[in-house]
Amino acid sequence: MTKILVIGSAGQIGSELTLKLRGLYGNNNVIAGVMELKAAEKLDGEGPLEIVDVLDRQGLVTVVRKHGIDSIINMAAILSATGEKNPMLAWDVNMNGLINVLEVAREFKMKQVLVPSSIAVFGPSSPADHTPQETILKPATIYGITKVAGELLGDYYVKRYGLDVRGLRYPGIISHMTLPGGGATDYAVEIYYEAVKNKRYTCFVNKDTRLPMMYMPDCLKSTIDLMQADFSRLDHHCDYNVGAMSFSAGELAASVKKYIPEFEITYSPDSRQAIADSWPNSVDDSLAREEWGWEPDYDLDSMTRDMLRAIGERHDKGLI
Ligand code: SER
Repeated sequence: MTKILVIGSAGQIGSELTLKLRGLYGNNNVIAGVMELKAAEKLDGEGPLEIVDVLDRQGLVTVVRKHGIDSIINMAAILSATGEKNPMLAWDVNMNGLINVLEVAREFKMKQVLVPSSIAVFGPSSPADHTPQETILKPATIYGITKVAGELLGDYYVKRYGLDVRGLRYPGIISHMTLPGGGATDYAVEIYYEAVKNKRYTCFVNKDTRLPMMYMPDCLKSTIDLMQADFSRLDHHCDYNVGAMSFSAGELAASVKKYIPEFEITYSPDSRQAIADSWPNSVDDSLAREEWGWEPDYDLDSMTRDMLRAIGERHDKGLI
């Protein structure tokens, strides 16, 4: 029987992933790990909940023992923009947190650890279009540096200790249940909320900024497909490129305008522009497609329709 601990269960991806995994494996087999109780409202009553601070190894061990955890998904991380404001915090959470997870997983001989990586592993010297799986990794952000080191560390635990560690390089993730926290791709979520609420948005990157993006249902699908892939078929472990769509901020605005014609956008780039500029326009994910059958379902317009529907419903009910 699998018992999965999701660390960072109240976050943008963690909140939806926890619920999805509970649907697949049973409520009691997926333990939500959150930093504080009030952050976990969406998960309340659905299954076990524990306070887990990824920096507290002993606390992690206690939760692992209590529930007989055999797999950990570590979604706790400081993202790119927040990381630039506090590089030491990013290093601490993203590296020391990861070491704690890997060491506890090793000690308890766990079945699997999943640690996401990001397009932030790439930098200005990586090829910008159709960025290959294997290429120059010289990121310009502390977040990217921790993600490169995290990929290498995960691969090291596979080789050195035979631990099953897996990870994928998420592009910007767009969703409507939980807001992202402190990334350079947050504009691609904010635009939908502002379009529904105010019919206008001031975007913090310029019109031509093009980045790889993915809608949450595809993010969950890619994560679960990789988790369930046969280990013997995986040539790589912690660094799979996964793509879904690639669009500029201007194209995103045009997609919103198709459904909300009165929507207006202005551009006022801030410090996040430089982060976005250092990342690829699109990625080559052929290895994920070959090794574990990755295939996305959503494109820009199908995502826009679904985002506007979901956010519109909540707005009509006065919830946002
Ligand atoms: N969405 C993330 C960020 O902007 C990228 O992994 O930091």
